Amino acid sequence: MIIAVDGPAASGKGTIARALAAHYGLPHLDTGLLYRAVGVTVARNGGDPDDPADAAAACVFPDSLLDDLALRSEEAGPLASRASRHPQVRAALFERQRAFARQAGGAVLDGRDIGTVIAPDADAKLFVTASVAVRAERRHRELVARGEPVSLAEIAAELEARDARDMARADAPLRQADDADLLDTSDLSIGASVQRAIALVDARLKDRA
Ligand code: CDP
Ligand code: CDP
Repeated sequence: MIIAVDGPAASGKGTIARALAAHYGLPHLDTGLLYRAVGVTVARNGGDPDDPADAAAACVFPDSLLDDLALRSEEAGPLASRASRHPQVRAALFERQRAFARQAGGAVLDGRDIGTVIAPDADAKLFVTASVAVRAERRHRELVARGEPVSLAEIAAELEARDARDMARADAPLRQADDADLLDTSDLSIGASVQRAIALVDARLKDRA
């Protein structure tokens, strides 16, 4: 069983994907971390994430980097988004994600192109979204809790610029798959979002049975 969870930044897709993985007893992969690792590696190499050769050279990184808190910093999001536009980068990360999705027993993956490119054959697909204002507030709360001083306005502008870039790219843009269920979490608590996600996935699994 493969569950694909896609959506824009801070929509709640990671929280929902983790909860679905626990509920159905499946392993989970946050694919955004892979792109964040590439973005952070480009920066640490002194390279330019907009340069395809610099970005491609950063696709080889140690697995230990995935645990580095720097990947979750505010700067890493735009670096990842800029690097992830290049087809060479997407191709370099493709097999790892595809293999994770197809492991025996199934998996939950969250990202931008899971339902459209990585696992178009997924048993259930969710497209998680929320208003920009709500997403900016959520990200702001997280950064304040971690002691990263960024203004709400700056975060909202960064989220909108990143979503626009992710939707505009030619290769694997952020979009809702035709057969994905839309889940707007703007007015939902975490618990309510998870309950709704489980109900949508259960309905898809029942359809398939
Ligand atoms: O993975 P993504 O960037 O889409 O979002 P996330 O990390 O799952 O959620 C972003 C933040 O919003 C986290 O701090 C979640 O706890 C919070 N959240 C929320 O307050 N209400 C929801 N319904 C979903 C997430
Ligand atoms: O947690 P948040 O939603 O802020 O971002 P993320 O999921 O960690 O993804 C960071 C960036 O990586 C995104 O803005 C995308 O540009 C890129 N990404 C992608 O292109 N494809 C994916 N499957 C996952 C992330």
